[in-house]
Amino acid sequence: MTLRFKTILGVGLIEAVLLLVLITTVLSYMRQSNQDNLEDYVATTTSLFASTTKDAVLSFDLASLSHFVEEILTNQGLLYTRVFDNDNNLLASGGDPRYLNKSFQPDVRYQDVDDSVYDASKRIIVDDITYGRIEMGFSTEGIEEAISEAQWLAASIAIIEMLLVALFSFILGVYLTKQLKVLRDSARRIANGDLTQNIHIKTHDEIGEVADSFNKMMASLNKANLETENHRKELMELNTTLETRVEKRTHKIFEQKEKLETAYGKLQQAQEQLIQSEKMASIGQLAAGVAHEINNPVAFIKSNLSSLAIYINTYKKLIDKQQKILNTINLATGNDIQSQLKELSLYRDSNDVDFIDEDIDGLVEESIKGTDRVIDIVKGLSVYSRSSGEGVEECDVNILIESVLKMLANQLKYHCEVITQLMPLPFIRCHSGKITQVLTNLVVNAMHAMNEKGVLTISSAHQKTADSSVIIIQVLDTGKGIPEKNIVKLFDPFFTTKPVGEGTGLGLSISQGIICDHGGSISVENVVGKGALFTVVLPVND
Ligand SMILES: Nc1ncnc2c1ncn2[C@@H]1O[C@H](COP(=O)(O)OP(=O)(O)OP(=O)(O)O)[C@@H](O)[C@H]1O
Ligand SMILES: [Mg+2]
Repeated sequence: MTLRFKTILGVGLIEAVLLLVLITTVLSYMRQSNQDNLEDYVATTTSLFASTTKDAVLSFDLASLSHFVEEILTNQGLLYTRVFDNDNNLLASGGDPRYLNKSFQPDVRYQDVDDSVYDASKRIIVDDITYGRIEMGFSTEGIEEAISEAQWLAASIAIIEMLLVALFSFILGVYLTKQLKVLRDSARRIANGDLTQNIHIKTHDEIGEVADSFNKMMASLNKANLETENHRKELMELNTTLETRVEKRTHKIFEQKEKLETAYGKLQQAQEQLIQSEKMASIGQLAAGVAHEINNPVAFIKSNLSSLAIYINTYKKLIDKQQKILNTINLATGNDIQSQLKELSLYRDSNDVDFIDEDIDGLVEESIKGTDRVIDIVKGLSVYSRSSGEGVEECDVNILIESVLKMLANQLKYHCEVITQLMPLPFIRCHSGKITQVLTNLVVNAMHAMNEKGVLTISSAHQKTADSSVIIIQVLDTGKGIPEKNIVKLFDPFFTTKPVGEGTGLGLSISQGIICDHGGSISVENVVGKGALFTVVLPVND
């Protein structure tokens, strides 16, 4: 069922029901009011006529009565009238003979009328005495005609109105469905993705508003579509460039990771150096105290031992002289002296004086050597106290290297061949004595590491970058290398693998302290197929 048909049917039905109710109510009201009017008219007319004819009936004036009858019959709708006396004698009558000849049946109310004539009678009463009566017949056709006319009119109006309403509904329905069809077609086009065509409805009503909203919605959808399309294109572009970007980023991340690893390595190194220098600082304090305490007694022990050596020499010479004298006496004197000499000789033999003679020099010499060693250790320890800023000068490290090699040349020639690769270096401010000490220790260590004939390579170079300028000294040997487990302990004070009495284990520890004092660093690594490589880095200060 189309909307148009539904609209017409709905409106028509409502209209019909309303009109039916209206017409029924109006007609019923009209009928009632006409009937009431007629009843009033009948009552008034009969009363008036009874009163008018009263005197003529009393005086039996038939002429007047006849005249009154004629008079009253001129009233429209009055069909007949009769006047009777109290004995039911007809005194006067007039009107349509068809009704006059009919027997009289009075109608009390309009509803009693069954022959289109409202029959009514009224008694003629004077002082409560009835003298006669009048009978009158009123036509009800007028009312019926009026009602029938009204019914016709109402029906015609109803039909015309229904037709008009139907026509209007039809036109409205056609108009609405046409506009709705336009909207529906547009909605379908939108559903199919066509957002290009606007709806062309330019009316100033709700449909026009709906069309406007539709057009606005399409504009928004178009805009949103355009944005989505742009985003989609951007996404496609991003997708295509994503891989290269990810690659670039990954590369960057790797670079950063490497940088971080290097930085971490440096940090660890710095931390180790820091720990080491902390250690050195505390050892330095201890060493300074110990060195101070040992220095004095050792000094006088050494001095005493030297004096003792001289004294022993003197005693030995004296004993020798005595022996010579005793030998002379032995040959020349008597028994007393002989027995004393025997006793002396016995004492000498039983106390192994000859052995003491031989051994005593060794002991003193050994004690002096031992004391010298203690002095060396104490000297070494005193380096830890690092009190001196003195002795600092501008120097060429290459010259220091060469002087160390010259100094050790005698020993080196038995152990190894020496190769130097010295690049020109800038002068640096340093404690040349201490740097020499470091170089000496490195060269001696390398020498000791090479039992058989090896090769010792010393190189130096200047390295300048954007943010640093350093001197790098490297000592490489072809010795046995350093066991992995020892590498971490190498710079610890008193760590040595040399037999007791041969190494103090302070060399590297002191060297590290010295290099740290100069703001540099010292490190070691095993070189595969060769030996150990020590690297010293010293900053070049402007
Ligand atoms: N070039 C090297 N090759 C192999 N091992 C080495 C080398 N240099 C040092 N070492 C090891 O490091 C240890 C510590 O060296 P350091 O110089 O501190 O003490 P030392 O040489 O033992 O004693 P000192 O230096 O007092 O004579 C050595 O005992 C040795 O084991
Ligand atoms: Mg050493």
